[in-house]
Amino acid sequence: MRTHYCGLIDEALVGQTVTLCGWVDTLRLQSHVAFVDLRDHEGIAQVVVERENADAFAVAGELGYEYCLRVTGTVRKRLSVNEKLKTGTVELLADSVEILNAAKDLPFALHESPNEDLRMTYRYLDLRRPAMQKMLRTRIKLVQALRRYLDARGFQDIETPILTKATPEGARDYLVPSRVHGGQFYALPQSPQLFKQILMMAGFDRYYQIARCFRDEDLRADRQPEFTQLDLEFAFVEEQDVQDFVEALIRHVFKEVRGVELAPSFPRMTWAEAMRRYGSDKPDLRNPLELVDIAEAVKHVEFKVFAEPANDPAGRVVALRAPGGAAYSRKDIDGLTQLVAKHGAKGLAWLRVDDRAKGREGINSPVAKFLDDAALEAVLAAAGAQSGDMVFVGAGTWKAVTDFMGVLRLKVGKDRGLVEDGWKPLWVTDFPMFEYDEEAQRFVALHHPFTAPKVDDIEELRAHAATAVSRGYDMVLNGNEIGGGSVRIHRPEMQRAVFELLGIGAEEAEAKFGFLLKALKFGAPPHGGLAFGIDRIAALMAGTESIRDVIAFPKTTSAQDLMTDAPSPVSEAQLKELHVAVAATADAD
Ligand code: AMO
Ligand code: AMP
Repeated sequence: MRTHYCGLIDEALVGQTVTLCGWVDTLRLQSHVAFVDLRDHEGIAQVVVERENADAFAVAGELGYEYCLRVTGTVRKRLSVNEKLKTGTVELLADSVEILNAAKDLPFALHESPNEDLRMTYRYLDLRRPAMQKMLRTRIKLVQALRRYLDARGFQDIETPILTKATPEGARDYLVPSRVHGGQFYALPQSPQLFKQILMMAGFDRYYQIARCFRDEDLRADRQPEFTQLDLEFAFVEEQDVQDFVEALIRHVFKEVRGVELAPSFPRMTWAEAMRRYGSDKPDLRNPLELVDIAEAVKHVEFKVFAEPANDPAGRVVALRAPGGAAYSRKDIDGLTQLVAKHGAKGLAWLRVDDRAKGREGINSPVAKFLDDAALEAVLAAAGAQSGDMVFVGAGTWKAVTDFMGVLRLKVGKDRGLVEDGWKPLWVTDFPMFEYDEEAQRFVALHHPFTAPKVDDIEELRAHAATAVSRGYDMVLNGNEIGGGSVRIHRPEMQRAVFELLGIGAEEAEAKFGFLLKALKFGAPPHGGLAFGIDRIAALMAGTESIRDVIAFPKTTSAQDLMTDAPSPVSEAQLKELHVAVAATADAD
């Protein structure tokens, strides 16, 4: 149908007759000549249709944006070179122009940036845009590079079931009703976690899969209900073996796909340190700001907002210096106060440092009057305050303060233009094994229930469950958790004990995970692994904030596919066949 791609014609073809196919990217109709920029997956070529060529000129008169064309003509040098185009030194003088298909009533102009709902509804048009093509191709390159690397190193690519039993990863399950077994359901996998562990027990030694995962959870820019992991598992390993391998893998793909050299050895930080210094388990190390604990400085003040948490082992009082932050207006501060309120803050105290040399006189703050001279000085000194700065103080429960001051740190870093360029990977290690869920009044697994604790002794784990540390690790890049994994429990007694601590009784454990407990009895090897979020890595590589940009057909934040209109109602007959009754009329939208 065609001889060349639009985006690949060049001066070597001058004088030759070629046939191109593509879409009308731009169109300029003049009285004697028509210029059509024809676009395909390789790029754009300028097509010139002269009035002397009456048939072709007539067709040109009918064209509109995004019409699909086939054009035959002669390549010639352009009079004025277009530096912006790869093909900018040449153009095609058309002999014939054939409309392969019209494009009427476009819902949006591809050159503009339409709203996201429109983009999703007409995703095929959205994807035609060169910027979108480029982002998706970054993802394709990433996946190719990952596969090549792993295939060359003896990893077995093994598919695991999609219709399966629940694998808890902290989200709700998507369920599929069984027609054959009325009233019973498959769960879509939240990850291939248990299958990959069982593959190690089955002797496959090193596994990988580009695996689709399904999680019914609140969506954000970096979360989709179905997403893709590079899932990895290794038999006979300890954490360092897994970490060394996947670190080299990530360095390799960043070099190959983006030409980026990541640090030769990623720094490591315990979870406790990350929370203390950055208020996040995925710290963005491009941002130099750090949280400073000031409980000691305010333990004795009269101001209860500070003194109570400062004296409470479960409380926290933190200062954050915003360099040059004296420039924040009252309105800006109100905005920041609202931001932290969304993350659990009951208030946000601030001290504007107009002149550090003047002591109390140089400070403007609604809380300075509640602090004696020593406390005020200690807070400012601890924060490293200088003239022209703002010092924010957050006080409350350890969890809330850590979270909201972590959020504030990111915001202030961005506002003040402090975030450096480049790539800052790190490992976060030594996660707590369990987190206490106040609502449910029990422990929940911080990673997943198959993660091994650091202690080997079951009694010791039971005795110190609240402070137990796991053998889990996350890889973090520029403030994004791009991968997470752990060394697993490989002995049935320990797995039973962990289930018990999580409030999963023997009966429930048997019903949900009996197959795992059984498999662990037959010589299961020590094993561990990790899963990377491919969408997140691709988004970082493509330089976009939203993983939707690197997923061909993503869902909206309300988990809808606007193009196909999924989810959608099904017929009564189908429901009956599946033994399903719809209880209440859910929201029609
Ligand atoms: P985890 O739940 O940490 O671990 O997931 C691994 C990585 O997958 C990515 N990710 C997501 N990406 C997009 N949308 C989502 N909703 C989403 N949820 C997670 C993240 C994350 O780091 N089975 C374990 C891995 C293991 O232990 O080996 C697991 O799934 O980048
Ligand atoms: P209040 O006594 O509640 O009026 O608060 C006095 C000052 O303390 C105000 O500037 C509040 O923003 C600030 N504040 C209140 N609660 C907190 C908190 N949990 N952390 C930091 N500052 C707070």
